[in-house]
Amino acid sequence: MCVLQLNGWGGDQGGLMSAYEDAFLVGAAINRNQVAGGEPKALNLAREHFNSVTPENDLKWEKVHPEPGQFNFGPGDRLVALAEANDWALIGHTLVWHQQTPDWVFQDEDGNLASAELLRERLKDHILTVAGRYRGKIHGWDVANEIFNDDGSWRESLWYTILGEEYLYLAFEYAQKADPSAELYYNDYNLWKASKREAVINLVQALRKRGLRIDAVGFQGHYGLDYPDLKDLEGSLKAMKMAKIPTMVTELDISLLPFPNADQRGADISLNFELQAHLNPYPDGLPPEMEKQLTKRYVSLFKLFNKYQDNMTRVTFWGITDNTTWRNNWPVHGRTDYPLLFDRNYQAKPAVEEVLKLSRN
Ligand code: XIL
Repeated sequence: MCVLQLNGWGGDQGGLMSAYEDAFLVGAAINRNQVAGGEPKALNLAREHFNSVTPENDLKWEKVHPEPGQFNFGPGDRLVALAEANDWALIGHTLVWHQQTPDWVFQDEDGNLASAELLRERLKDHILTVAGRYRGKIHGWDVANEIFNDDGSWRESLWYTILGEEYLYLAFEYAQKADPSAELYYNDYNLWKASKREAVINLVQALRKRGLRIDAVGFQGHYGLDYPDLKDLEGSLKAMKMAKIPTMVTELDISLLPFPNADQRGADISLNFELQAHLNPYPDGLPPEMEKQLTKRYVSLFKLFNKYQDNMTRVTFWGITDNTTWRNNWPVHGRTDYPLLFDRNYQAKPAVEEVLKLSRN
């Protein structure tokens, strides 16, 4: 039996990346252990199916710049080498975010709130140093992540409190300076909501008006079986297209577990609901009926992506297999979720064959 059959899909048609070669890049988030070779089967899947990778955590501020003046470039450097060896388009994630950013960034020497001048200087130093180090090696940077609330207002992060809207423009300016050849993105969740989508379209227009480049908007895509309504998602893909803003799906996963509070669906990483049995219905395996629903949901999503492919540049999954997906721990810690296309045994799920078939239509 050949290896490709072992993977559970036809095998003679190549992986996802080849199937969608003419449409968009197909990527996955990769973690530090995988990059270090700790999970060779995950790497094999990545080589077979993906032509783009995003570090799941290692280029976030707290990892790459944990203390003032101290940069930890080891994991990033190893990823750059791996991406070069495999010809993967490497995505930098992320330069400015209110999460996974150490407290010291927003404080002065006495532990008081940093002045605008100090924070501006830190932002500049961080971006020029990190994006500068990987100049010419990064396909595109998520310059800013999750700037807006769902209603389209500016998130009152410490960035915003101290610098106001200016921090966003500065971030794009510094990123462009640090690595002129990298694409520059804005990334967020719940962009299927009209209010948030409009805020992002306005932001892109404001950037362009100031002569700052932005190449695409990333829809994170942490979804469930019943949310978002694909009509809403299509509304936003269409609105972006009309506004001449290329789109990408940057962190796709489809949770099969109940979301504890429907009002908080999205991707706020600070959520942490208590683990209860009813919130973890499939600890020992996925019922076939649920597998079918996952396949159906992926098919509907990829039909939509195909429809908008002339304005979409990439579809990236947030992880390679179910055993290391962050959704096992978010928004409830310690669950068993099944959101990706490859299972815990590194086998392709039935959805893979269906998604491959769609590419041929
Ligand atoms: C997640 C990672 O997957 C986790 O390992 C980490 O503990 C928290 O962050 N939106 C983003 C990603 O932009 O960076 C987040 O990644 C998921 C939500």
